[in-house]
Amino acid sequence: MINKQVFQFPIIYTMPMNKIAIGWGVHETVADECKQAGIKKALIVTTGLKGTGIVDEIKQILTGNGIATAIYDKITSNNKDYEVMAAYEVFKNAECDGVVSVGGGSSHDCGKCVRMLAANEGKQLTDFILRKGVPWMEEARKHKPATIPQITVNTTAGTSAESTCAAMFTDTKSRTKPGMILPYLAPTTTLVDPLLVRMMPQNIAAWTGFDAFAHAFEGYLSRIRSRYTAAMAIAIIKLIAGNLREFTHNRMNHVACENMCWASNMAVVLLHFGGAVGIPHGIGLQLSALTDCHHGRANAILTLPLERANEASCPDEFAEMARAMGVDTRGMTKMQAADKWFDEVERLLKDLNIESGNLNKQLDIQRDELENMASVYSNDFVQEGNPRDVGYDECLKLLEGML
Ligand SMILES: [Fe+2]
Repeated sequence: MINKQVFQFPIIYTMPMNKIAIGWGVHETVADECKQAGIKKALIVTTGLKGTGIVDEIKQILTGNGIATAIYDKITSNNKDYEVMAAYEVFKNAECDGVVSVGGGSSHDCGKCVRMLAANEGKQLTDFILRKGVPWMEEARKHKPATIPQITVNTTAGTSAESTCAAMFTDTKSRTKPGMILPYLAPTTTLVDPLLVRMMPQNIAAWTGFDAFAHAFEGYLSRIRSRYTAAMAIAIIKLIAGNLREFTHNRMNHVACENMCWASNMAVVLLHFGGAVGIPHGIGLQLSALTDCHHGRANAILTLPLERANEASCPDEFAEMARAMGVDTRGMTKMQAADKWFDEVERLLKDLNIESGNLNKQLDIQRDELENMASVYSNDFVQEGNPRDVGYDECLKLLEGML
């Protein structure tokens, strides 16, 4: 008889990825990409990127090549549900047939949400949220696929939202930041142009870069990682350890800029080929929902205390990540080598001017908010990607330790 004993998370699924173009000047192909995707009237979704001239340039390229445009440029960091609804209204009223999102994660995710709403007239944003224990393929079957094309013009190096099939939004009613993961949400074409990425302000470069780093180390530590994700995570960690400091403090260094563009976008493979984020993202999304803290900064604030709680469950992985960051661990015990990863991250945070922990002082988080945060995390699907279960009581204790 066949021994049918199985193990936790034995089956790894991959998600589809679409066309990605990375290189200097590639934003100039945005109209060609719209034509290829069949877009005749594009909704430009953006935060406005004031002072950069990027949005005007994209608009000019589109209209100059016969693509009509409408625009919604009031997206803010941690794109809010009411901003998504307003963008959708513009899409509908202007009779657009495609989306061009220009910016970072908030703009791209808003574009994905608009496509889902347009494909599923009458449904609410909250109808698409992925919940713990529900396989994404079951969730995907409940809705009409978002077939409306989306071209992303990326201007940050961090979120991976420019190419992933995941979309987050801030639910202002429940004060949470849930997400949808649906295979047909992956944008039709992604344009990653270092020419635009290097125009980021310094703090956004540091915060978004740390987000890319978090995708890599959380994905590497994840209990549902695959061989694809493990290999990609180590490559990303090496790139970030070698380039994020330089890029943050000198965005015109073209080599550091290119390397951060790659590090950020490579995490798409990590997130689509079986990887998953863990507890820093799980708590970080709530921190952003409660305080509007930038997503990458939230992850950075939380990383050291939360990953310290994971250390004993996977010291070999932490040691490997320390080596990827350039530490010579020869002669060290497994735990000594694992500890070195924390030393390296502490140094990195300091160099990026990011303070760890101190949630009350930094973000005005109050003690009575912690219980709700612990409760949301312990029922969140992100829980499944952390290397081990962190239940309500332990989560609350961890949060109290960071207050
Ligand atoms: Fe992230």
